Amino acid sequence: MNNFYFQLPTEVYFGKGQITNLPGAIKQYSDNVLLVYGGGSIKRTGLYDTIKNLCAEKEIEVFELSGVEPNPRIDTVRKGAQLCKQHNIGAVLAVGGGSAIDCAKVVAAAAKYDNDAWDLVLNPSLIKEALPIFTVITIAATGSEMDRGAVISNDETNDKLAMFSALFYPKVSILDPEYTYSVPKNQTAAGVADIMSHAFEKYFTRVRGAYLQDRIAEAILKTCIHYGPIAYHEPENYEARANLMWAASQAIDGVTWRGNDVQSTAHPIEHQLSAYYDITHGVGLAILTPVWMEYILNEETVHKFVDYGVNVWHISPEKDPFDIAKEAIAKTKAFFASLDIPSTLREVGIDEEHLEIMAKKGSKNLENAFYPLEEKDVLQLLKNAL
Ligand code: NZQ
Ligand code: ZN
Repeated sequence: MNNFYFQLPTEVYFGKGQITNLPGAIKQYSDNVLLVYGGGSIKRTGLYDTIKNLCAEKEIEVFELSGVEPNPRIDTVRKGAQLCKQHNIGAVLAVGGGSAIDCAKVVAAAAKYDNDAWDLVLNPSLIKEALPIFTVITIAATGSEMDRGAVISNDETNDKLAMFSALFYPKVSILDPEYTYSVPKNQTAAGVADIMSHAFEKYFTRVRGAYLQDRIAEAILKTCIHYGPIAYHEPENYEARANLMWAASQAIDGVTWRGNDVQSTAHPIEHQLSAYYDITHGVGLAILTPVWMEYILNEETVHKFVDYGVNVWHISPEKDPFDIAKEAIAKTKAFFASLDIPSTLREVGIDEEHLEIMAKKGSKNLENAFYPLEEKDVLQLLKNAL
C-alpha cells in the first residue's frame, strides 16, 4: 500500500427528512444562496418547494440558476458566476445529480475569480477561493456530493474536462434516498454503471497489498449487483435506493482508492463520448467497461480478474484463471444488459466519424493506467465497442 493523505470534510445527513438540517447549515455561512438545479425534476417532485419554504423560514434569500444540462456546460457556469457577483451571493446550493453539483462547484469558484470560468477548468490551481457549497443529491451515481471533483463541457471545443479542488468538497450534503424514487429507469441503470465504474477504476490497480481497499471495492460492486436490479424494478424500494446512494458516495472519494491510486481508464475515454455526442455518462461507461476488460486481459492482468470473478461473482477458484476472467467479463456485460443499458456505441448514435480525435484526447495519461494504453489502443478499443 502507498502513502496517502485522507481528508473528507463534507458533513453528511443521510436518510428520510434530513433536509430540515439544510437551512441552518447554510445560515452559518450566508443570508442568501444560489439554488442550482437542472431541467425541472425537482419541481415535479416537490423538492423545489420544500427547499424554498425551508429557506424562507430561516430568512435565507434564494437566487436561482436553473436549466443545468446533463453534462453541464461552461456557459451555464458563467451565468451562475455572474449572478453571484451581481447579487453578492454568499453560498451555492446544488439540488440534483452530478451535473447540478458539478456546475455549482465551478460557479462557487468562478464567483471568486475575476476572469473567465473556463480558465479554472483548464487550470484548477488558479482556484484560490470558493463560495461554500451545499448539496441535496437526487440520483445515486457520481458521488459528487462527497468529492472534490467536477466535470464541465465546452461545446465550442468539444472538451469535457474533469477538474479537482479541495475547495470543491461540499460543506454539507443531504442524502435522502426517497428523493431518488422518481429517477427514471434509464438513469437509475446509468447511475449503477457509474458507481461500478468508479469502483473498477481503482480496483484494477498496479499497487499491491491494498487488501482492505480491494475488499471495500468488491463490497460496493456487490451492492450494485444486488440492489441495482431491485431499484430498477421497484423504484420506491427504500433499502435499495439507500444502499445505492451510500455506495455512490463511498465509491469515488471515500475509502476505496487511498493508498492504491492509479490513473483511471474508462472515465477519460467516456468523457470523449459525452463531449462529442452528449451521451449519458453511465451509459458510455457500461458500453466501454467490458470492452476495456477484454482488451487488457492478459498474463499480467489476469490475477485481478480472478479476484473479481471469484470474490464478486462467486465463480469457482478451481477453474482456469483465464476462464474465470472471461466468465467475469461476460457476467459484467450481462448485468448491464439486464438493466437495459445499450451495449454498443452504434446504439447510442456513435459511428466512426470522431473515433480518431476521441482516441487522441482520451488516451492522455493512460501510460499510467493499470494496463498502459496508447492512442492506437484506445482507437482499437473504441472500434471494438462500435
Ligand atoms: O435535470 P433534471 O430535470 O434534474 O433531470 C435529471 C437529468 O435529466 C435526472 N434526474 C436526477 N435526479 C432525478 C432526475 N429525474 C427525476 N427524479 C430525480 N430524482 O437525471 C438526469 C441526469 O442527471 P445528471 O445530474 O446529469 O446525472 P448524474 O448524477 O449521473 O451526473 C452526470 C454528470 O456528472 C459527471 C458526468 O460526467 C456528468 O457530466 N461526473 C461527475 C463526477 C464528479 N463530480 O466526481 C464523477 C463522475 O465520474 C462523472 O464524470
Ligand atoms: Zn463516473
